[in-house]
Amino acid sequence: MITAIASRVEVMKWMEDFVHEKMTEFLKSVEDSWQPADLLPDARMENFFEEVKNLQERARDLSYDLLAVLVGDTITEEALPTYESWLMSIKDLPTNEESPWMKWNRAWTAEENRHGDLLNKYLYLTGRINMREMEASTQYLIADGFDLQTDNDPYRAFVYTSFQETATNLSHRRVAQIAKKQGDGMLAKLCGYVASDEARHAKAYKAFVGKIFEADPNEMMLAFEDMMRKKIVMPAHYMRELGVDMGKTFGHFTDAAQRINVYTALDYTDILRDLVKEWKLETVTNLNDAGERARDYLTALPDRLKRVAERMKAPQLEYKFRWID
Ligand SMILES: [Fe+2]
Ligand SMILES: [Fe+2]
Repeated sequence: MITAIASRVEVMKWMEDFVHEKMTEFLKSVEDSWQPADLLPDARMENFFEEVKNLQERARDLSYDLLAVLVGDTITEEALPTYESWLMSIKDLPTNEESPWMKWNRAWTAEENRHGDLLNKYLYLTGRINMREMEASTQYLIADGFDLQTDNDPYRAFVYTSFQETATNLSHRRVAQIAKKQGDGMLAKLCGYVASDEARHAKAYKAFVGKIFEADPNEMMLAFEDMMRKKIVMPAHYMRELGVDMGKTFGHFTDAAQRINVYTALDYTDILRDLVKEWKLETVTNLNDAGERARDYLTALPDRLKRVAERMKAPQLEYKFRWID
């Protein structure tokens, strides 16, 4: 435990052993990891075309909204280069390659890289997607980047990742449930595998923030408050399609996700409530006046947002994405 008021650089350095420990706890080795090829038809096999035919039959009945959400999720996963460079640009982290922080960044990226791969190959095989349009959206998204408003600050960044990994776990899990209901057990399984990775990542990032709260409670509280005042934006908020103005495609994507209950305003509120509980905000000590006010704001926020979310109606307007013929 750091006693005197420490700088962020000192806190991050102090956390290195902890990060190493969490990495072995929450990330899997390559040997223990699933790979996309474990879950998809094998093109070397004689029954490959038969399996693809079965896959296409199962995918035929997937609803339009579900397919649209799945494409949006895939594009989001495939913009991984943006997320890795963002992680690498967080200030105050030790930058030598052998630091547990840098190892974490690389190993996390390596795990995440399987998600886009898997979903992309699945969507390609369904025969229901205009792959060129989807690929163009991915290229756009990587080129456009994002603005998460974390200011390259580790405290803000790990609030963001704690929130976002929890949200992706939830949304992939929901897609799995809906896919199962619509008769595509294979897709349900794929999304379930992705969701379980996201769950491990969420646990790790929540643990990082929990540890920072031990060392630097006031600054951590203020960083959490700042992120929630600015609101957590989705990493794909610049998502767009060829020939469509920026902002429109993303809005239609989140509308579809709301409509089929994959990710809603109530989920946002629930995740926040979960984080407030996880980091035991009520019992944090050593706060100054600003820190106390931040705590008050944060602990009252879930109920406030819930009242707003309950009044929101699921968007009705259906939109024809260029990704789906
Ligand atoms: Fe992912
Ligand atoms: Fe993730």
